[in-house]
Amino acid sequence: MSNYWSQYWQQGHLTSFGEDIKDNYEGELKAVWDGFFVQLSEEDRVLDIGTGNGAVVALALAHNKAGCQFVGIDYAKLNINNQQLLESTNASFKEHVSVENLPFETESYNMVTSQFAIEYTDLTKSVAEIARVLKFNGTFQLVCHHEQSSIVKPNNGILAAAEKIMTHDGPYKTCMVLIELLSNNTADAHHEREVTRNNLNGQLAELSNIDDASLYATNFPQFLKNIFSKRSVVEKKRIVEQFGNEMAGLILRLNDLKKASLNETQKNKLLELCKKNGLQITACNTLTQKDGTILAHQIMGMKPELQSN
Ligand SMILES: C[S@@+](CC[C@H](N)C(=O)[O-])C[C@H]1O[C@@H](n2cnc3c(N)ncnc32)[C@H](O)[C@@H]1O
Repeated sequence: MSNYWSQYWQQGHLTSFGEDIKDNYEGELKAVWDGFFVQLSEEDRVLDIGTGNGAVVALALAHNKAGCQFVGIDYAKLNINNQQLLESTNASFKEHVSVENLPFETESYNMVTSQFAIEYTDLTKSVAEIARVLKFNGTFQLVCHHEQSSIVKPNNGILAAAEKIMTHDGPYKTCMVLIELLSNNTADAHHEREVTRNNLNGQLAELSNIDDASLYATNFPQFLKNIFSKRSVVEKKRIVEQFGNEMAGLILRLNDLKKASLNETQKNKLLELCKKNGLQITACNTLTQKDGTILAHQIMGMKPELQSN
């Protein structure tokens, strides 16, 4: 995976939903974490994997008991700036740490949590690591992307739109050629410009098959406005380059999301891996919003004491 998460967290967001969530997670997601952390006891140690800027740790802190320690790890570079997290002496974060290779002692945590994180990892290694660091009778909760969720499905639409815009010889490439031709004032360039403009019009007409929400989410309409408004050619070239970089990052991120989201078979494989590593599954639910739309998979479990023969 690229370092786009590092770039993302540097923007200071607390959640992985950017500007769409101003504060921390609410509604059903907050409720499942409140329901889990209510079992916290004094001196418990909680490990949140793929923590990002610490949203789940911040939710856990609301249930803090004396002596509890909350540790968030992530392999991205983080930028924790939530006041509650910064002021807490119980919460700490380690960046550049992989779930597949946790730098913690065996049986050192009472709880392990993951929200939209473990599904991005190499599950064979990461589940083994969770099972290793959990104490006996320790519990875990994994909230994972669901292939049919109201988070994943719209993003698949945005991905398809972005790929169509960025396809080889597609509309983005044509815009790039057009802007290049602006620097050339010869008669040939003038003619070529007209041909390219017609080509672009045809390509833009084809984009009308894409639903508005997906198209606008790529920022392509705004990009077109920017390059066809009164600006210097140098500035237009800068805008073209910046948009190209942003789209490359978007396509990478949404492809990873698509790959990470779990269908029934993949979820069952994750459950099997938990069992294979000595973990017991205590609940496996499909989280839904009030209107019935799917939100995520919720997997809960514990590490039972070893049976003596
Ligand atoms: C969608 S974000 C979720 C962040 C946070 N849990 C939340 O709910 O807001 C996924 C996070 O998992 C991290 N991640 C993905 N694969 C990882 C790995 N193998 N080891 C550690 N962190 C990983 C990414 O860097 C990213 O910060």
